[in-house]
This record gives sequence, C-alpha cells and structure tokens, in this order.
Amino acid sequence: EAERQAYKARIKALLIEKNAVLIAHYYTDPEIQALAEETGGYVADSLEMARFGRDHKADTLIIAGVKFMGETAKILTPNKKVLMPTLEATCSLDLGCPVDKFSEFCDQHPDHTVVVYANTSAAVKARADWVVTSAIALDIVEHLDSEGKKIIWGPDRHLGAYIEKQTGAEMLMWQGACIVHDEFKAKALKDMKAVYPDAAVLVHPESPANIVELADAVGSTSQLIKAAHSLPNKKLIVATDRGIFYKMQQACPDKELIEAPTAGSGATCRTCAHCPWMAMNGLQAIEKSLIDATGHEVFVDPELAKQAMIPLDRMLSFAA
Ligand code: 13P
Ligand code: SF4
Repeated sequence: EAERQAYKARIKALLIEKNAVLIAHYYTDPEIQALAEETGGYVADSLEMARFGRDHKADTLIIAGVKFMGETAKILTPNKKVLMPTLEATCSLDLGCPVDKFSEFCDQHPDHTVVVYANTSAAVKARADWVVTSAIALDIVEHLDSEGKKIIWGPDRHLGAYIEKQTGAEMLMWQGACIVHDEFKAKALKDMKAVYPDAAVLVHPESPANIVELADAVGSTSQLIKAAHSLPNKKLIVATDRGIFYKMQQACPDKELIEAPTAGSGATCRTCAHCPWMAMNGLQAIEKSLIDATGHEVFVDPELAKQAMIPLDRMLSFAA
C-alpha cells in the first residue's frame, strides 16, 4: 500500500511537470480512475474521452484505456503528445476487423454507407463514412435509415443486432465480438434474477441478444451509470466490465451492485467480466510513460489520420 501511494505521488508530480492530463475509461481499475479524478483528469466513456482530450489545454494526454482510444485522441488532436501506459492494450473488436478484409467487404457493396464502431483501428475508421460509439450508435443509424441509406455495420455483431432490432434498419454485418461481454450467460442470469427478484438488470449492448432481452436498461457505459442512478430499484445486476462499478457506486451510493454471471463465474471466480487489455493500465506503466515517452507515444500516419478524421468529425458534429 505504501508503495502504491508512492507511485501515485510521483505520478501526480510528473503530470504537473509535463503539463499532462490523465484520461481514464470506466473499465480501468478503480485506483486508476480515482487517480484521474484526483489530478484534474477525467473518467468517461469512449465518446467523452475523445471530446475531453480534444478540448483540454494540456500539451500531453495520457489515455488509460485501449489502443483505439489513444488513436482517436491522436487523430482529434494531432498537435498534442498522446501517451498510453501500454501500446499493447488492444480490443478483440479491433483485432477481429483487419482493414484489408474489411475493405474488401465494403468494396463488394459500394452502394452502402459504412458505419464503424469506435473500437476499430485508425485504418478501418479511414475506410468508413461514419464512426459511432455505443452512446450514439442508435441515433446515427436511425438518422441514416430514415434517409433511406443502405448500411454496412462493423465490427460488433451483438451491438449491430441490437441496433437493427431497435431501429428496424437492415444492416450488412461484420461478425466481430467483444470477448468480455460475449461471456455473459442467459441461463445463469435468469437464475440470478430469481434470487434477486427486485433487482433491475443493466446491460451493455455488446452483450449477446439473449442477455439484452433480460435487461431493464441497455446502453453505453455512461448511459448505464445514468440508468443506475435513475431507476428506482435498490439492487442492480450489471452486465458489463466490473471496472464500471467504481463510478456507478459513486452515482448511487445507497444501491447494491451485483455482477452479472459469466461463463467463468462460480464458486471460485465471481469477477470474470474484466477486459484483460483495460487491466494493463497500471500505476507502474503510467509512471513509466511519463518518465520516458519512448514506446508509449501514439502515432497515426498523418494521411490516414486526415481520412479517419472525416467520419469522426461527422459523429462529433452529430452529437453536438
Ligand atoms: P463505451 O463506448 O460505452 O465506453 O464502450 C467502449 C468499450 O470498449 C465497451 O466495451
Ligand atoms: Fe474491447 Fe471488449 Fe475490452 Fe471494450 S471490453 S476494450 S470492447 S475487448
């Protein structure tokens, strides 16, 4: 514990010395989120992280999250130095959507508008007409559908299926999935609901359809935190990464938050819904990135960044 405090003190001093700001995703470990809060940084969903970094006056952004979040920050603010605790932190959706294969898929349907989830590489974004995050995906697809656009959706098939169901839009879909949300199990969740009949179920739409069906509220990380606060239930079963419990508990201190069961849950493992890449954002890695940026700085090819900026800008203008 003393060692952790020493790390935090050194990081605080380095953030000031380097005029840097720490921006953390809700899925990072609670101590990282607390550190962002204590140092004037920010804890947010992927859309808000991008906006905050763009508008903040610091010269250096430290993005505690996964690679696509660092890349998005760099694309939006090419003049700032963007660091990540580790460049190895990726995402199964990004990994499952290589640009050459995805481009080929898009080329086969040239009359379609290409909508990609933010959880993709800069190159995939550069191939898209629109980028969306889970906070705004429904609104954007609804808008495109109302204009009669034919849509290609990638890469998350569960989020895509949820959007199709909600909007009535038909989309050609890439078959990616999030390894964390894909693990929630409907049978076990039904059993848990029977144990807590008064609890509401909160679900991130990267979860499979049979989990979404059991939800009282479906939404992005920020939307789920709002729902946790506004729902009348005193007990909440939460089907998303357990990192979210830190801010969710702050939003509703009087409520009991219960982790939804995953395939790995059981007597020995009750905390399996945690993204292994988000977990790589530790104190040691943050300090290291601040001391020496080598191997921590995010670079995006400027031509690619210019292309990727177009669909990102569309999303941000739509959201404004
Ligand atoms: P949000 O856009 O809801 O923050 O989600 C990002 C993510 O990686 C979800 O798994
Ligand atoms: Fe990607 Fe899933 Fe991790 Fe989010 S939780 S970063 S979607 S692997």
